[in-house]
Amino acid sequence: MSRENNIVVDVESKKKSINPMIYSNFIEHLGECIHNGIWAYDPVNVPLFKGNPKLKGMREDVFNAVKNLKPTVLRAFGGCYSDVYHWKDAIGSRDSRKTVKNIAWNDPNLLPEGTGPDIENQFGIDEFLTLCEEISAKPYLNVNYGTGTPEEAADWVEYCNCSTNTKYGALRAKYRRKEPYNVQFWGIANEIYGFWERGYEKKPENYAKKYLEFAKQMREKDPTIKLFACGWENSKWNQTLLKNIGEDWVDYLTIHRYFPNLFAKASGEKHPDKPKCYHALMASAPLIEQYINHTWEDIITALGKNTHVRIAFDEWGVWYVFKDVIKSNYNLQDGLWTALVLMNFQKMSDKCPMANWSQLVNCLGAIQTDPDGLILTPIYLALKLFKDHTYYNLIEDLDIKCETFDSRRYGRIPKSENVPYIDCNATINDKEDKLSIMFVNKHFTNNLIVNLELKSFNPSEQGEIIELNSESPFDYNTIENRNKIKLKHKKVEECKSKMTLELPAHSVVLLKLNKK
Ligand code: AHR
Repeated sequence: MSRENNIVVDVESKKKSINPMIYSNFIEHLGECIHNGIWAYDPVNVPLFKGNPKLKGMREDVFNAVKNLKPTVLRAFGGCYSDVYHWKDAIGSRDSRKTVKNIAWNDPNLLPEGTGPDIENQFGIDEFLTLCEEISAKPYLNVNYGTGTPEEAADWVEYCNCSTNTKYGALRAKYRRKEPYNVQFWGIANEIYGFWERGYEKKPENYAKKYLEFAKQMREKDPTIKLFACGWENSKWNQTLLKNIGEDWVDYLTIHRYFPNLFAKASGEKHPDKPKCYHALMASAPLIEQYINHTWEDIITALGKNTHVRIAFDEWGVWYVFKDVIKSNYNLQDGLWTALVLMNFQKMSDKCPMANWSQLVNCLGAIQTDPDGLILTPIYLALKLFKDHTYYNLIEDLDIKCETFDSRRYGRIPKSENVPYIDCNATINDKEDKLSIMFVNKHFTNNLIVNLELKSFNPSEQGEIIELNSESPFDYNTIENRNKIKLKHKKVEECKSKMTLELPAHSVVLLKLNKK
């Protein structure tokens, strides 16, 4: 095992652009994501939002946390829930809206109480689209394929995007506003290949046929919308689906992945804060890369290498035990994993330009709420670190030599060998005078020394480090100590083109440099 950790960043080497849509997010009518998350149903001891009156019902702290995260795209209202969602229940005056059973998530024999609360639809279409505008996120709506119709989906496009001369455009003007919302992204079904999904399709041919009926009626209302079809890890499904739909009717093939996924074995109630789980998670990011490559092969096999179709990884996240979908909390280990996967997305955004963390609030959530305040989990901090402090040009070929470790199988993560202890990505701004270098030290106990060499970039003496770290990888922010873990900013003096850095054990370290 080498004891030396050497990284060379050559700023003149090849670059590729990073699509900002890899920093996207997702909300669903599931657990406490919307009910008592995005929307405060029960009384809380914190102020409600006083800005746009359309968002009266949101908490101010939730609104600010979401806005500060700056998700590029926000997907709603499911997930599995989208295949039972009737959007017309969620428009008009608040007191006229229908309360409905959450039939995707309320089987009391199978699911814990609180998984699928009744939905009062107070946070409906106009509230969601207003929120997106207020936080400058692009909305992405998943239509109801499972229990809905192509007409219902087309009406939804008309409500959002068409003029007031149309039936639903006029309704929008009556309820909310004249100008169309111009929603660009529309998904047709969610995980429809799965027995758990309402509208389950065993055969991709059948899904493709019905998908086309949806797509054609929706594009009749607005020919400019981008359409998303459900893909997964089955190549036969992906290729047959895409061949049957054809290049003209699809823009993105969607895929999902959660790690370590223990709930299939119904194991335990608590997060397994164990070194074995830690090492497996730290070794698992390349599996995301493999999944993207494999899906990309399916796309080009079906449609040719000049296809315009790309991958949308529209659900990814950490899911330990089933009840995490109600509310959960996440520790530093989960934040490190988030950073490792985001580094992969940065490398692959040409094939996969969109990735949506699943989910935003409470349910598998980056943000956790309680009646007195918020917990911004290390996942939130990692997502924020990337959005605020990395640039949009990736320096492709870094030379990284570092120590390695082996990890054992855990949940759905297989064992791995020779996993590098350090992952590193370097990004640069368009003028090429600002450099941001992200390091993740995956070592459970040891600080690691890195010899960093910069080629073709002479940095000014003063730089900045932003660090995500804590004493233990199993540390959490909690109600008692909300800011135990935060992003720490430190000045670095004497930056040079050859410098030595000490990366604390289990940490993310981001070095920001300006050109001299
Ligand atoms: O995010 C929770 C659920 O996970 C989504 O509803 C579904 O798409 C996935 O299986």
